[in-house]
Amino acid sequence: MNEEYSVWARDVLARVAEKMEKVSVRSADKIPYTTKDGVHDDWSGDDKIGWWTNGFWGGMMWQMYELTGQERYKAIAEDVERKLDRVLMDAQSMDHDSGFKWLPTSVNNYRMTGNPASRNRALLAANNLAGRFNHAGQFIRAWNDWGDNGPDRRGWAIIDCMMNLPLLYWASEETKDPRFAQTAMRHADTAARCFVREDGSVNHIVEFDVDSGEMVRSYGGQGYGDGSSWTRGQAWGLYGFAQSFRHTGKREYLDTAMRIADYFVAHIPENGLIPVDFCQPEEPVWEDSTASVIAACGLLEIWRLSGAASSGKQGEGAAEGTVNGAEKGAGNYRKAAVKLLRTLAGQRVNWNDADDNLLEKCTAAYHDREHEFSIIYGDYYLIEALMKLSQL
Ligand code: GLY
Repeated sequence: MNEEYSVWARDVLARVAEKMEKVSVRSADKIPYTTKDGVHDDWSGDDKIGWWTNGFWGGMMWQMYELTGQERYKAIAEDVERKLDRVLMDAQSMDHDSGFKWLPTSVNNYRMTGNPASRNRALLAANNLAGRFNHAGQFIRAWNDWGDNGPDRRGWAIIDCMMNLPLLYWASEETKDPRFAQTAMRHADTAARCFVREDGSVNHIVEFDVDSGEMVRSYGGQGYGDGSSWTRGQAWGLYGFAQSFRHTGKREYLDTAMRIADYFVAHIPENGLIPVDFCQPEEPVWEDSTASVIAACGLLEIWRLSGAASSGKQGEGAAEGTVNGAEKGAGNYRKAAVKLLRTLAGQRVNWNDADDNLLEKCTAAYHDREHEFSIIYGDYYLIEALMKLSQL
């Protein structure tokens, strides 16, 4: 345990908590996605409540509750959770992102308070998620059809789904019924085989034939193009596989997480600021700070899981080797995470408490019209990464 990193992370968290005390009052009745002129918008209306990011604000309130013990954060988080009940009743809104919606809200609530209503919500969501499994292809279907005459998405799986699998692992741990974890592991095995490339980078979208289960092709999705390396996708992959290892102990998942992590670490630019896609053209220099914080969470998780924290080999060179020219070793994952977080705290966190967001320069997708704005899950994973580094 490096005391200097921990002290630094606690100091930054204290600044975050100071700002959140004001932001949470202003945004108590909202479910924000982004900010406009520094003010949180609100996605809790009927037309927006199904949006995949709507669990993160509630999750941030649980993080603040954990950090400060203040009851008012718990009350806001519970309010968000109740609002999400409308989603549980809407088949079109229920997709593979159930993990993103109910892990930060209901599972957190149940873990911290034992609330049976939260357990019920999370189990309903887990059952729905497990029901999206395609047996021929051994994958969880990502999105529903959007009614836009767009492509047939029945056979689409996406790397982000690795982050939703912990809802299934939780459901098995909670009910002692292995079906959920079995489904998660089948999906993770397919993802390791079909999403992760030779060099450790990952595809965003893979399409399977829904009847034969054969892999059809990959898509660039939210990244620059097919075969490119959308940075948030790399981050979902490395953090997601690490979590699958944490829940199952299956060594292949940790190895896969490390391969993706090695690729990511080797591509971190000198300035520590993460682009939207590692393969994007030099201009425009679009960034995605969300990829940076999610990767930092995953790198710290891999560092912890790979035993550096408990083995006594806590130096940066613990278990070093060389992979694709990148220094490999548990300590180096933490070192890379610290570089990302220090860069963000110094250059990409908005410390003005008149503005509602923390992280700046987040990008949803390379080919969207807008780039580099605030996005709520950036703030959520920033706090999560700092809590991991501070060992809170
Ligand atoms: N899960 C969708 C995204 O990362 O944008």
